Amino acid sequence: MYSQGLIGADGSTEETQEFLDAFQKRIDAEEKIEPNDPMPEGYRRTLVRQIGQHAHSEIVGMLPEGNWITRAPSLRRKAALLAKVQDEGGHGLYLYSAAETLGVSREQMTEELLSGKAKYSSIFNYPTLSWADMGTIGWLVDGAAIMNQIPLCRCSFGPYARAMIRVCKEESFHQRQGYEIVMYLARGTKEQRDMAQDSLNRWWWPSLMMFGPHDADSAHSEQSMEWKIKRFSNDALRQKFIDATVPQAEFLGLTLPDPDLKWNDEKGGYDHGPIDWDEFWRVVKGDGVMNRDRVKARKKAWDDGAWVREAALAHAVKREARMQAAE
Ligand code: 3HC
Repeated sequence: MYSQGLIGADGSTEETQEFLDAFQKRIDAEEKIEPNDPMPEGYRRTLVRQIGQHAHSEIVGMLPEGNWITRAPSLRRKAALLAKVQDEGGHGLYLYSAAETLGVSREQMTEELLSGKAKYSSIFNYPTLSWADMGTIGWLVDGAAIMNQIPLCRCSFGPYARAMIRVCKEESFHQRQGYEIVMYLARGTKEQRDMAQDSLNRWWWPSLMMFGPHDADSAHSEQSMEWKIKRFSNDALRQKFIDATVPQAEFLGLTLPDPDLKWNDEKGGYDHGPIDWDEFWRVVKGDGVMNRDRVKARKKAWDDGAWVREAALAHAVKREARMQAAE
């Protein structure tokens, strides 16, 4: 076992170089870090930030699709969409639980979301304007999420990696049901094909933004990769997603809204046009079409659920007191 950080006279933990080196040695040896293991405060903080924002994204991500459950064109489509939205809620709960193992409470994470201190994925600030969006979100947004989440199954922090394994299994169903919706529309009437193409035009670029800023502009990637929280860089995962998705769009007979998209033999992948990072940061900073609606909906749900949390807590306290009295 390696030495812990020195505990200073005021009880603070000074992270000695020996402590940091020993921790990095565990990471490099592909050991899983568990919640009670000594860890650098920066490692813990990075995980609380990323897992918390990931959890927020799952819960906020229920809203755009929840909007279409009552308007699904058939019982089969409604059942699949209902199942998907319920899955996203479960993913959020897994991830909040994983974050709580690092000493942060759900209340604190939710307060940070509602105050704007914590982020969620910018993709969920775009409006869902047609039924085709349900297909495109499953196909592209969940497709991008899978590309990003498969490597997270090998994240150095145990609870996050383990949560991702089940999440990824369910994401595959999400992506397939979305692609099937788009395929059905692409093979349908002209009106249906136009609806699918319009949806692809609106969701393609925001889906590429899901992978985060270019590597050169990514504040956290280098350290996150050294700590094996991230296994691939933002640009590497974005490229894998583009290379996997272009043939799918071609198979559907749909056109990706990027005139610069072109296979590059030398690179063994597609070159693509510039991403509008001004739009990305404008949306991340709260000025997207749906930002205010999303946060308002989350705040209402949080406030409306207060009585449930209080009742559950009161019950737990009473039960604990009864058990202690019986001892
Ligand atoms: N939306 C909003 N903010 C984003 C973002 C996006 N798409 N991409 C990056 N950012 C933010 C980062 O959070 C960071 O801000 P912060 O310091 O305030 O947290 C800043 O931009 C710089 O970005 P970095 O690349 O340096 O940040 P990361 O190293 O954290 O990388 C990430 C960003 C790739 C999204 C990484 O956090 C990650 O892999 N997170 C886990 C996966 C996740 O959260 N996915 C979100 C979608 S979940 C989903 O789609 C559910 C599905 O079921 C539909």
